[in-house]
Amino acid sequence: MSLETHDQPIGAFDSGVGGLTVVQAMRELLPSEDILYLGDTARVPYGNKSPETIVRYSREIMTYLNKYKVKAVVVACNTASAHALSVLQKESNVPVIGVIAPGVEAARAATRNKRIGIIGTQGTIQSCAYQNLLQRLEPDISITAVAAPLLVSLVEEDWLSHPATQLILEEYLAPMKAAKVDTVVLACTHYPLLKPLAQRVLGPEVVLVDSAQNAAGALAGVLQNHGLNRAASSEAGRITICATDLPAQFSRLAERFLGQRIEAIRCVTVG
Ligand code: DGL
Repeated sequence: MSLETHDQPIGAFDSGVGGLTVVQAMRELLPSEDILYLGDTARVPYGNKSPETIVRYSREIMTYLNKYKVKAVVVACNTASAHALSVLQKESNVPVIGVIAPGVEAARAATRNKRIGIIGTQGTIQSCAYQNLLQRLEPDISITAVAAPLLVSLVEEDWLSHPATQLILEEYLAPMKAAKVDTVVLACTHYPLLKPLAQRVLGPEVVLVDSAQNAAGALAGVLQNHGLNRAASSEAGRITICATDLPAQFSRLAERFLGQRIEAIRCVTVG
């Protein structure tokens, strides 16, 4: 492996700003890596679009990231992972990591009563990607899956502890409470920001698994296995953030999702 390959950036993409929760987790676990993030803000949301459209968008983004010679790609978006991951993995010359398998592994490790809830976008839940993988690995598990299309907008509005958000979460999470799940997978980039409220609604004994930390862990494992890690350094790697559109509130939102100040966001075209 050439030195250049170790030093190449890791690509990550999402339908918009939410995937920065995954970038934040990547940064914490792999501080010396450079990261090139693309948020497809011009075409967000992905959660209610057809699988064919999501595959097309994802391929276009891969082409964009490959121009920058990324050494691995994280599909930070749950909906894109659900619809496009296997296609991208087949077509790519570099490792492609999705958020679903890491989330499933974390849920398997967390559950004690084998009753698991999954909450995500319409597309993620309808694809059954989480449900099928869980069922295959744990045939005796009971799964309660709920599509929660309203939550993304509430998070983008910053209504993280608003009474309306609590009411809506109570509605979405009611089937999980009724099924007595002990673990809930937050299967959407935006939901980690709703963790405190969801925990309040579900009670302290329910474990909330989010895909951000687990995907970062999976990426670290893949880099290790392929000998692709960048040498540790006292200097933090560079995070470059690109978006296909720059709506007025984008940088404020991006800073909230990433948990740090962002110097500049590049507006780019894909496809
Ligand atoms: N990033 C999407 C996901 O994780 C949520 C936002 C959208 O619908 O595009 O599924």
